[in-house]
Amino acid sequence: MNIILGVSGGIAAYKAVLVVRALSERGHTVRVVPTANALRFVGAPTWEALTGRRVTAEVFENVADVEHVALGRWADVIAVVPATADLIARAAAGRADDLLTATLLTSRAPVLMAPAMHTEMWQHPATVANVALLTSRGVRIVPPDDGRLTGPDSGPGRLPDPQVIVSEILACAAGVQSSRRSRSDTAEVVGEFRPLTGRTVVISAGGTREALDPVRYLGNRSSGRQGFALAEVAARLGAEVSLVAANTTLPVPEGVRLTEVVSTAELHTQMVSHARNADVVVMAAAVADFRPAAPEPHKIKKGADGAVAPLQLIENPDILAELAGRRRRPQQVVVGFAAETGDHAGSVLQLAQAKARRKGADLLVVNDVSNGQVFGSGDNAVTLLDGRGVPLGTVSGSKTEVAEAVWATVIELLGGPDHEPAG
Ligand code: CTP
Repeated sequence: MNIILGVSGGIAAYKAVLVVRALSERGHTVRVVPTANALRFVGAPTWEALTGRRVTAEVFENVADVEHVALGRWADVIAVVPATADLIARAAAGRADDLLTATLLTSRAPVLMAPAMHTEMWQHPATVANVALLTSRGVRIVPPDDGRLTGPDSGPGRLPDPQVIVSEILACAAGVQSSRRSRSDTAEVVGEFRPLTGRTVVISAGGTREALDPVRYLGNRSSGRQGFALAEVAARLGAEVSLVAANTTLPVPEGVRLTEVVSTAELHTQMVSHARNADVVVMAAAVADFRPAAPEPHKIKKGADGAVAPLQLIENPDILAELAGRRRRPQQVVVGFAAETGDHAGSVLQLAQAKARRKGADLLVVNDVSNGQVFGSGDNAVTLLDGRGVPLGTVSGSKTEVAEAVWATVIELLGGPDHEPAG
């Protein structure tokens, strides 16, 4: 089947990557038509690599081929994922100011839209009227989920899971009347969407502690939430997940094997051992770079004269650099994190780019921690860099949404020509 996947400019655009992949895996031919704003979230190279076809948002790029007409005729179904309030308004008004809206106007194929936006926008009378108008013209709307949105708010407006959308697209193309299915029905129709099935991943999380004496330690403020979210999402996507957690108190996600550690030395041992069998290694833990040279076997006492003994520190191994530099398996994907505040030597991005090149990982997930707002919070905002420090995109939202975006990128890396499944 020929499917046009329209993508408009919302944070949920990354989920469309998983939709394209799932449709292609089922043997469908997919062409992606993004809006210009969608390309700010997921770039043309990603869509082109996924579909093997040139991707543009412009009507005027391939004028001789009258591409919007050709595309409209070629499609058996058009799905817009995510559909922003703006795209919905333009489609409802019959505008044709970019390739996607022009294609929607020329095509006679069934159309599905999966809206995703903030609750206020979704419930605004203008959007409600536009959606009603499109529905009356036969456009099938996949209602957004009620849940966590970008930022601290939650409510209806969240893009449903990719497998739900895939199911809806196939039902729409087949003219099946059902609107939204339950998750279990969806699984029956399209099979579980588990692109990491057969893959083994190991994820470190939390923050290491270095003993000064039996009661004191040097530590950091990492809660482990981002690492746990990565583990939970990877398990949901079918991976066999080991989580090596340093000093966390979070509940262990379903289907995830937990190993607890305290110090960097213990984390090092566990990660080296787990990496031997892993297709993907993720270092999300905040690792102490230094440890006391000689931790005291007894509690350190205040001197009678109030004198403070200087603290001698020695450097810990750089686990990420070691694992990235000496891959334990062929085609293993290694992911690192970078917590940066920026300083006199450079901006957050400059320091992170230097770190990406220094560490040798395939993907670096960069946190700006200058305000300390990431630690312990449910939300995150990150920039993804490739191994050479080239920005791949930014993601903000709940730590689960960030985890989904990280795994979408890793799945691309695993599927690339240099990352055929190991073994
Ligand atoms: N990391 C590691 N071993 C260390 C220090 C860090 O494996 N001894 C990993 C972290 O898990 C993370 C990445 O390296 O994936 C970057 O950690 P970060 O603390 O941002 O950087 P550092 O290497 O500590 O460099 P700096 O402190 O100079 O920023």
